[in-house]
Amino acid sequence: MRLNGKTAIVTGAARGIGRAIAVAFAREGAQVVVCDRDEEAAKLTAEEIGSAALAVRADISVDEDVSGLVDQALARFGKIDILVNNAGIGATTLFLESSREEFERVVRINLTGTFLVSQAVARTMAEHKSGSIVNIASLSGQKGGVGRSAYGASKAGVELLNKVMAVELADHGINVNAIAPGPILTEVSRTMHTIETREAYHRLVPQRRYGEPEEIADAAVFLASEEARYITGHTLNVDGGFLAAGLLFPFDPKTSKKLGDER
Ligand SMILES: NC(=O)c1ccc[n+]([C@@H]2O[C@H](COP(=O)([O-])OP(=O)(O)OC[C@H]3O[C@@H](n4cnc5c(N)ncnc54)[C@H](O)[C@@H]3O)[C@@H](O)[C@H]2O)c1
Repeated sequence: MRLNGKTAIVTGAARGIGRAIAVAFAREGAQVVVCDRDEEAAKLTAEEIGSAALAVRADISVDEDVSGLVDQALARFGKIDILVNNAGIGATTLFLESSREEFERVVRINLTGTFLVSQAVARTMAEHKSGSIVNIASLSGQKGGVGRSAYGASKAGVELLNKVMAVELADHGINVNAIAPGPILTEVSRTMHTIETREAYHRLVPQRRYGEPEEIADAAVFLASEEARYITGHTLNVDGGFLAAGLLFPFDPKTSKKLGDER
């Protein structure tokens, strides 16, 4: 029960990684605000978690929704100890074919949304001089993946925002860290990733597999807990070794057996 008595807001918690984080937080004793713009799915997730959860419909890129989210969380639980900025959208479009509209939409949700919710929540955390913020970034914000101009730029922005918030909020007793997931098995990656994308990840990730949402949730529990109290401004990659990898063989150099295909 590493989060016993804490109250957490998890954005984009209706499904995927956010849902796994909300479930893990509740298991560790936290009360959880399941925030999502998909109200029905958020309610379902909150019901599954039980009485420790409150579903709130909010679009993180809309100011009124963000203030409503904070108001509802405070009205129900009295304080906010933890914020996980997980809500985000993906996009895979070649740079030369990208539109201004798509670029701005991705940045508005992934980066501006993270800024808006963090600022609103940090102001309340500052009042009681403690809190933890965990930002979900991405390996796509660290590497120049094909088709990732908008998404990658938005997530690189999240990592820099993570550092500035950590520096400025340290005096207010607030820790700010990020998790950069590699490819994770969620509805989005299952439907959006083509066979070619899957094969490429199996070739490029040293562990030769996608991660599970629960593996991101484990890292989020740690960063939100007291165990991480002297860690701030850090990005923890949870990526099966993707960032660390240099030269990788698509086969076992000793046996010539092809790697990754079986998974
Ligand atoms: N799945 C991956 O491989 C992967 C890899 C790296 C990073 N990430 C990041 O992890 C986070 C979660 O990804 P996922 O795969 O679980 O996605 P997902 O689409 O399964 O879940 C995202 C949730 O966020 C909600 N959401 C989207 N925009 C929102 C908004 N404006 N306001 C409120 N809620 C909103 C959606 O309704 C959805 O429930 C995202 O930030 C994503 O960029 C995912």
